Amino acid sequence: MLVLGIESSCDETSAALVEDGSRIRSNVVSTQVDIHARYGGVVPELASREHIRNIIPVLEDALAKAGATPADVDLVAVTQGPGLIGSLLVGVEAAKNFAYTHGKPLVPVHHIAAHVHTGAMAPRLGPGGQPLTDSAPFDYPYLSLVVSGGHTSLIMAHEPGRYEIAGQTLDDAAGEAFDKVARLLRIGFPGGPVIDRLAKEGAADAVQFPTPYAKSADVNFSFSGLKTAVLRYVESKGLEKILADRAHLCGIVAGFQRAVINSLIDKSRRALEERGLNRFAVVGGVAANSGLRAALAERLAQVDVRVPPMSLCTDNAGMIAALGYHLRGRATRDFLALNADANLKM
Ligand code: KG4
Ligand code: ZN
Repeated sequence: MLVLGIESSCDETSAALVEDGSRIRSNVVSTQVDIHARYGGVVPELASREHIRNIIPVLEDALAKAGATPADVDLVAVTQGPGLIGSLLVGVEAAKNFAYTHGKPLVPVHHIAAHVHTGAMAPRLGPGGQPLTDSAPFDYPYLSLVVSGGHTSLIMAHEPGRYEIAGQTLDDAAGEAFDKVARLLRIGFPGGPVIDRLAKEGAADAVQFPTPYAKSADVNFSFSGLKTAVLRYVESKGLEKILADRAHLCGIVAGFQRAVINSLIDKSRRALEERGLNRFAVVGGVAANSGLRAALAERLAQVDVRVPPMSLCTDNAGMIAALGYHLRGRATRDFLALNADANLKM
């Protein structure tokens, strides 16, 4: 069964063709980071406008790369929410149009559920944070840590389409913290990849920040205090001085990244222990972080940890098509009844 996936919830316009929920024939992503970079964050109006410009070319490109025609598509899957409403609408309307015009069923997909599902498509993490190429396939049920620019949650994945939130951030998402810290240090957007790179150069323990929200016994997170701690530190030392001293800058971002990683791993381990689980997936944009991957491999060595390849970590339509395949029983031909929902619940 060939599924066309469409994703436009934030600042990436994406279309993908996936066969039987696992064989990715194409996964085209048109990113807008350059447009939003100078604002230090995603500007919703600009994002919707770009999606409108990009959606048709991206769709055509995905079909061409897969060597498929619209007639070959058996099912259309689209991100219904959550996300920016103007952005979501572009993908949902494109999907409805495609499905109506070509007479295909349409299935709405929850963006975070699709991130969670990429865990089931991922190889096992091996020593040093490298994927094991010969790992056995992973399957539900498992615990997943969703860490992206908009979300940080521990989610119990029972089966495709059935999830339960175990814990979540009480304020900023982990990726948001990376982006805000990079912004206050004026080192670029999105902050995650920049901090990941600079942190590798940072001397261990040169600058230390406390692990956020470590004392509470629950499995929630909080990152806004850590961001403020970095801000206070930068104010006390002076931004210009820090930027003129690369070792100092790298030490700061390394200390910040370590605090985030400690929090993510400590709470994840607690949730795994509470549930007596040995199967864990880390998904979403921040799962691309090399320090996090290495720390997971080292500190959760006894756990079967899955981290998807980079192309499935950041927003992409491949994950929408893959989960859409498993949810095909929920597909509809009542296209007018389907609407984007910025606050869609899982
Ligand atoms: O999942 P994603 O592409 O979009 C959302 O749904 O939010 O995640 C984007 C987030 C951004 O905050 C970005 O800074 C972060 O993922 N990110 C990283 C890395 N690559 C992307 N964070 C830490 N380390 C990275 N290597
Ligand atoms: Zn996402």
